[in-house]
Amino acid sequence: MDILEDNIDRGKLIETAMENLKYSYAPYSGFNVSAAVLMNSGKIYTGVNVENASYPAGICAERNAIFHAVACGEREILAIAIVGGPDHTIIDYCSPCGICRQVMREFCEPEKMRVIFARSKTDYKEMTLDELLPKSFGPKALKNEGKIRKV
Ligand code: THU
Repeated sequence: MDILEDNIDRGKLIETAMENLKYSYAPYSGFNVSAAVLMNSGKIYTGVNVENASYPAGICAERNAIFHAVACGEREILAIAIVGGPDHTIIDYCSPCGICRQVMREFCEPEKMRVIFARSKTDYKEMTLDELLPKSFGPKALKNEGKIRKV
């Protein structure tokens, strides 16, 4: 169920994000977000937005999930599901912010990577990262292509 030709189980990814929404820490904005990211290993990593009394120190759910995956040795995102809304409710589709789109860009093939913003397990919008962040700037634009520099 929910598995298209690309083998991405959208329902499972959305469900994982929904289950973790309760962990979002957003006492200042009152807007709670949760993300679940599927990596090419087949593993799913979660993240929620975590705010701070010093406002700019907070982080979005999407980046938290991606950094969680990268910190566990992962490097390639296949898909991410995002849910959120005021006071831990899901009223509308929650689209990723510009900074999170750029962070996704670092670890995927933009024409293939799926961004899923969901209102429920079956009610969701889906776009590729390339559609959300066209003509993007990525690792290949740099001489070292994201590899460690020799100094
Ligand atoms: N937020 C996310 O976690 N992801 C997004 O893509 C949009 C915004 C968070 C950041 C902040 O904690 C709260 O939502 C309000 O902006």
